[in-house]
Amino acid sequence: MSAYKFIDHKFDVVVVGAGGSGLRAALGCAQAGLKTACVTKVFPTRSHTVAAQGGISASLGNMGQDDWRWHMYDTVKGSDWLGDQDAIEYLTRNAPAAVYELEHWGVPFSRTAEGKIYQRAFGGMTKNYGEGPIQRTCAAADRTGHAMLHTMYGQSLAHDTEFFIEYFALDLIMEDGVCRGITAWKLDDGTLHRFQAQMVILATGGYGRAYFSATSAHTCTGDGNAMALRAGLPLQDMEFVQFHPTGIYGAGCLITEGARGEGGYLTNSEGERFMERYAPSVKDLAPRDMVSRAMTIEIREGRGVGPNKDHIFLHLDHLDPKILHERLPGISETAKVFAGVDVTKAPIPVLPTVHYNMGGIPTNYHGEVVTKSGENPDQVIPGLMAVGEAACVSVHGANRLGSNSLIDLVVFGRAAALRCAEILKPLATQPELKNANTDAHLARFDRYRNASGTQGTAGLRLEMQKAMQEDAAVFRTGETLDGGAQRLANVWEKAKDIKVNDRGLVWNTDLMETLEFDRQGEDRLPPGPQLHDV
Ligand code: FUM
Repeated sequence: MSAYKFIDHKFDVVVVGAGGSGLRAALGCAQAGLKTACVTKVFPTRSHTVAAQGGISASLGNMGQDDWRWHMYDTVKGSDWLGDQDAIEYLTRNAPAAVYELEHWGVPFSRTAEGKIYQRAFGGMTKNYGEGPIQRTCAAADRTGHAMLHTMYGQSLAHDTEFFIEYFALDLIMEDGVCRGITAWKLDDGTLHRFQAQMVILATGGYGRAYFSATSAHTCTGDGNAMALRAGLPLQDMEFVQFHPTGIYGAGCLITEGARGEGGYLTNSEGERFMERYAPSVKDLAPRDMVSRAMTIEIREGRGVGPNKDHIFLHLDHLDPKILHERLPGISETAKVFAGVDVTKAPIPVLPTVHYNMGGIPTNYHGEVVTKSGENPDQVIPGLMAVGEAACVSVHGANRLGSNSLIDLVVFGRAAALRCAEILKPLATQPELKNANTDAHLARFDRYRNASGTQGTAGLRLEMQKAMQEDAAVFRTGETLDGGAQRLANVWEKAKDIKVNDRGLVWNTDLMETLEFDRQGEDRLPPGPQLHDV
């Protein structure tokens, strides 16, 4: 018997997460007449998509000829040929319509002199199958994600999506291999909730915060991925972690690739534009894996800048201040605040920083979660979808091209909604939930809430982040990976003796951070079989 009580809700669709993919999926489901909830741990417009800067790729051809096939070619090549080519075709063919849809909903894109959507150059985006850089990335100055998120939140409200804000999703409710909903903890009053649904769509974002320095928000803790793991489902391509070449040295904040798209360039301690050596045709606009590797080599070989020769300079100081003001106002401010640099006068100190997780919950291009194993690896898990950075539809393979993330969010968010509209019946009867299946969720929650060991979560998390940063970095060897795996094993061992100080249920950030940090199953829960009083 449990001392905790659930408050029950029933929807056709429950979307977990309110970033770009979650909002697009929720909006599409609501438009299709499905009773739709969006459950999110932060206020929707604070989701990490808000931080996306440089833009969203689509072959609109506003700045010269373009073709979705060129975009497809670049994406296949950029993925190091490890992307799923059917999914990449779906992405690149549907990209222009997805951008026009955003425009019609009200996204305030920057404009060309003729009033068309402005597009800038981004790494790895080329014309005519690799001939040279192309301007394909549609931009709202350097605040594209911000503009998209606000617009889609407004549209979701207009279409009657019901939002459950500051609810922390705990676990998937699985019955006989079918997903029937989720459990969640309402952070501001401590109540526990059970959301039953015909379809759960995980749109919980990435896990950049497993690392010490990341452009990701502190909320990017891989919550949906871990829910899938705890439900016994697989994850795919988790080793494919992208480093963005230009995180601000020390702070890690993103300086958009759009800065190089507008003419910015990198130099080493000799003042050399070293990308000319590594990628003679596209130079600073090479794909980010190449640029990050080149920067790391320059530093390793002693040509880094600064007193410790441990970073690189990004120059924008040669650009017209009017262009900087119009097209890169956000990063000009970020550089001032976090590096003390006036970009019109001095270079920005930068370093490759964890930025994106190509891997995640395996899906087909409808967003349906698939088993990826057994006789039929394409077998769908009924009742469960995943979209956005939490998912791995595998359009990015081993390396995502800049601005292919925002387009992934809306194209596959839309695809998931279309699939829901096709296979679900609004307000269809759902079987009653069996309590036994949620007891384990409560047991895990309660054991952490009452964990009385000696190891604080913050210290353990820091050890994990440092191990990842140092041993699973841009360059990895068998030796660093073995060392890193041992360091992580030590962290998990210590985590069996974890300590949570706050026993309350209301705004218990200590408990929330512990649940975010752990995210694993029964094997390393702190001891304590019985449930405590609320
Ligand atoms: O550099 C950027 O603006 C990041 C874009 C992206 O990751 O797609």
